[in-house]
Amino acid sequence: MFLITVYRRINCFQSQGQQLDLVFLWRVFFIMAACSISNINAQIRYSVPEEMKKGSLIGNIAHDLGLDVQRLRSGRARIASGDSTEYVELKSDKGILVVKERIDREQLCAETTPCSFTFEIILDYPMELHHVTVEILDVNDHAPAFPKDIIHFEISESATPGSRFQLGSADDPDVGVNCIQNYIISQNDNFVLKQHARQGGVKYAEMVLQKPLDREQDPRLSLIVTAIDGGNPRRSGNVKIEVNVLDANDNAPVFNQSVYRATITETSPIGTYITTVNASDADSGTNSLVSYSFTNMKVIGHIFTLDERTGVITLSGILDYEKAKKYEIDIEAKDQGGLGDSAKVIIDLTDVNDNTPTISVMSFFTPVSEDSPPSTTIAIFSVKDVDAGDNGHVICVIDRNIPFKLLSSLRNYYTLVTDAALDRERVEEYKITITATDSGSPALSSQKTLNLKVSDVNDNPPRFQKSVYTTYVNENNQPGLSI
Ligand SMILES: *[C@@H]1O[C@H](CO)[C@@H](O)[C@H](O)[C@H]1NC(C)=O
Ligand SMILES: *[C@@H]1O[C@H](CO)[C@@H](O)[C@H](O)[C@H]1NC(C)=O
Repeated sequence: MFLITVYRRINCFQSQGQQLDLVFLWRVFFIMAACSISNINAQIRYSVPEEMKKGSLIGNIAHDLGLDVQRLRSGRARIASGDSTEYVELKSDKGILVVKERIDREQLCAETTPCSFTFEIILDYPMELHHVTVEILDVNDHAPAFPKDIIHFEISESATPGSRFQLGSADDPDVGVNCIQNYIISQNDNFVLKQHARQGGVKYAEMVLQKPLDREQDPRLSLIVTAIDGGNPRRSGNVKIEVNVLDANDNAPVFNQSVYRATITETSPIGTYITTVNASDADSGTNSLVSYSFTNMKVIGHIFTLDERTGVITLSGILDYEKAKKYEIDIEAKDQGGLGDSAKVIIDLTDVNDNTPTISVMSFFTPVSEDSPPSTTIAIFSVKDVDAGDNGHVICVIDRNIPFKLLSSLRNYYTLVTDAALDRERVEEYKITITATDSGSPALSSQKTLNLKVSDVNDNPPRFQKSVYTTYVNENNQPGLSI
């Protein structure tokens, strides 16, 4: 008898069951047509939302089976074996089915839709068997959630627009519209979001680079991607996106000044510090390593040294203000990738009084006749001092108390002339010392001595030493005796 019953039930279900799946109305029930065997009666289907409170009404079973409460009691109506019977309870005294345990659709069916379970209600005297199917409707009780709170990316600033970065998918155990419908990304300049659906309909997102990154402007980006479901109300879940922008060598070094000036005295020793040049590169790490060099190395490479790492310029040769008063040096800074900048270093030398005046005699007339009139030219000479300014300004003098004087004609040219009558018979020879002194501090000077001879003129008649010579001679001398 029981076997037949079961067989009949299956038949009954198959013949009329399919159209039932189409009906999803809240608390709508169907009573299936009774099968021919009178005590095996009906298929009842209820639809209830998940998560109803314990004791909530599922359906009025007595009414729906067309039985009164009396019959349920006398027939000891009860729930017989079936799946998931722990969720429902039959209240025979009121003829209703209620929730016995909270029903979680996601736990019961996961992603299977529709989600339902079936059990039998049995009555005795006479025996009756009724099939009840409870369909559990999804409620948007889960928010989308990403597997991680933060997703880290390291992206080079040289990444080209169109590059794609996978974000994966968030998870939402709800089904249908209550599942993830959309991903959005927080306001930013660089990335847009694209979403795709995998086979099976799971939506996942990727970030697409739209505008190139610039590490020098924004070394780090913080974005938020939100997954939103379609329930009512909508629920959402976030993931933080941390983008670390990696450097590319996209910046050239730049000198902090276009001209560097320094002053150095010409006598500075080798190794003297002159100046420091400085170029900075906005890139990071090795991309910002700058090396310095002279561009006209050949010309000044032996006089100055430029440290290629520190940019310090020092003296490495001998300076001579008299040869070069100023150096203009072109320098360049390059990074490892060859990007560079150029600048100029101007080094002014200051003169030091390191040169003594020199005297060059151009004509010297010796001897001079003692009857030469005053202002007779004795010598013409020039003086020279290669230092600059006061250091090269020369003054010439001769000894006092001699009958000569200096006339200065042209710049740095002097004429030595007589200043009084000469008398060879008094002074036969003059040593004339010319002293040339510059105006530096301390002053340097040099001397030159001219030996001037005075030549004789017949300007003196012979003269006896005495006007009267008196002598005595003996008488009776022989002729020829010397007196
Ligand atoms: C280079 O110059 C910049 C400013 O002009 C300064 O901040 C930096 O410290 C300088 N670098 C060196 C090595 O002196
Ligand atoms: C440029 O750098 C040099 C060397 O570090 C420094 O002495 C100088 O003051 C800097 N110039 C400017 C304009 O910052």
